[in-house]
Amino acid sequence: MNRMSGTSGTEEQTLQRIETLSRSSGGRFIVFEGIDGAGKSTLMADVEAELSPSHDVVTTAEPSDSWIGDCVRQANRSDVSPFTEAMLFVADRTEHTRRIREWVDRGKVVLCDRYYGSTMAYQSVVLDRMMGADSMDWLWSLNEPVVTIPDLTVLLDLPAKTSLERVNRTRETVSKFERLGYLEEVRNAYLHLAKRDRSYVLVDATRPQRSVRREALTLVQACVCSVRGGI
Ligand code: TMP
Repeated sequence: MNRMSGTSGTEEQTLQRIETLSRSSGGRFIVFEGIDGAGKSTLMADVEAELSPSHDVVTTAEPSDSWIGDCVRQANRSDVSPFTEAMLFVADRTEHTRRIREWVDRGKVVLCDRYYGSTMAYQSVVLDRMMGADSMDWLWSLNEPVVTIPDLTVLLDLPAKTSLERVNRTRETVSKFERLGYLEEVRNAYLHLAKRDRSYVLVDATRPQRSVRREALTLVQACVCSVRGGI
C-alpha cells in the first residue's frame, strides 16, 4: 500500500491536507464510503443539491450501471466463490474508473457512492478467513493498478447495530452483507483502511443528520474550492 499512510489530526489539519491533496485545476473525485445504513445515499443527494448550482456535478455508484455492474449484482444473488466476487467488483471498477477519469478530466465534480474501500473492507472480512492471512494487501494489489486515488473519501462511521436498525426500518429485504457480526467486522476494516489511506476522512455518522451533513459539506467544499467558478 505505498500510496497509503497513517495520518490523522485536528479538523484544521484535515482541511489543509484535503486542499494539498486536491488537484490545482480541473475536476474532483469524491467518494462516500460506509457500512450499509450509514446514510451515504442521503448525504450524497444533499451534497449534490448544494454543489449543483455552482459546479458541474456527476453522481455515480458501485456496483456501476454497466453490464459488468449487472454481473456483480447477479453474482451477489448467486453462489459464487468470494474470490470471484472480489474480482468482479474490481473488473467493474476498472471500467468505471475509465469513465470517472474522463469526467474529472472534463472538469466535473464526481460524487461516487462506494469505490475500492468497499472491496477492501467487505471482501477482506470474508477472504481473511479463506486465505488465513491479511487479505487487504492482496485486494490492494488487485485495485492499485486500476484505480484513481480520490481527492477525498468521506467515511461515514457508525456501529453496525445502529446501521442495522436503520436498514431494517427502511428496507424489506436484508442482503447477505447486512448481518450484525459481519458488518461490525466490515466497520473495523474500514477504520483500519482509513488510517492507511490519505484520501480518507472519518465522519461520525451516529450524530443527527444535520450535523453529519454540515461536517461533510465543509469537507467537500474545502476539496472543491479551487475549482469554484472555474467550470
Ligand atoms: P448498496 O448499493 O446498497 O451500497 O449495496 C451494495 C452492496 O455491495 C453493499 O452491501 C456493499 C457491497 N459491496 C461490496 O461488498 N464490495 C464492493 O466493492 C462494493 C462496491 C459493494
